[in-house]
Amino acid sequence: MKLIDSHAHLDDERFNEDREQVIERAQKNNIIAVINIGHDIQSSLQSIQLAEKYSFIYSAVGVHPHDAKDVPEDYLQQLENMCRCDRVLAVGEIGLDYYYDLSPRDVQKKVFVNQLNLAKKLSKPVIVHLRDAYGDFLDIMQKERLEPITGVMHCFSGSWEVAKECLEMGFYISFAGPVTFKNADRLREVASRVPLDRLLIETDCPYLTPVPYRGKRNEPAYVKHVAEQLAAVKGIPVNELTEAVINNAERLFNIKINNYSA
Ligand code: NI
Repeated sequence: MKLIDSHAHLDDERFNEDREQVIERAQKNNIIAVINIGHDIQSSLQSIQLAEKYSFIYSAVGVHPHDAKDVPEDYLQQLENMCRCDRVLAVGEIGLDYYYDLSPRDVQKKVFVNQLNLAKKLSKPVIVHLRDAYGDFLDIMQKERLEPITGVMHCFSGSWEVAKECLEMGFYISFAGPVTFKNADRLREVASRVPLDRLLIETDCPYLTPVPYRGKRNEPAYVKHVAEQLAAVKGIPVNELTEAVINNAERLFNIKINNYSA
């Protein structure tokens, strides 16, 4: 069984002590692609460095809503330059987070819209982080008319109504560790309704560690537990699910993932 982790933060300082071992473990556990995601300018640059060092790691560059308040004046130019690197597949992670509100909401919206437009200009998909901000997100997506730009709703945690609207806009829906949590029946119900050809899986490591490792640091090798949970809720064999997910990632990010064996 081959797996991908469509959303990881291997540049995070929590991997400073053993990053190489974590990456080796991912390869030993049949992870054939990891997309490493930036959350600000610095981590976007680090993300590209990782992708240049390891052929199975790709990157995305962008500014997270938490970091929107600290963007340098020329952030759009810097991101655009980074997007010229062929290891950069997408603009992300970008979005709105009204749960933590670590940046003022008007700043979050402005930085999000600017990056959506950058993605549109460069014909790149977007990786969206969205928490407790569904109304504003849907308003922005309607106003900006970003079709045919597609992307992925990362670590989806919303209702089926929101998932349905995102699917109608062309988004893929990605699930992470929370879908394995004991109290996540509502989320599993949403996952069961997302069409197989629009699903992605991810760890969002070092965060959101799936059961049975909940509480420990997360890493790409654990994405298997997300895959097994999703296969169970869809009632299909796990390798059918993982094959579909790899095809989805290839279609969305416009890449051909090498099926080498580790
Ligand atoms: Ni993330």
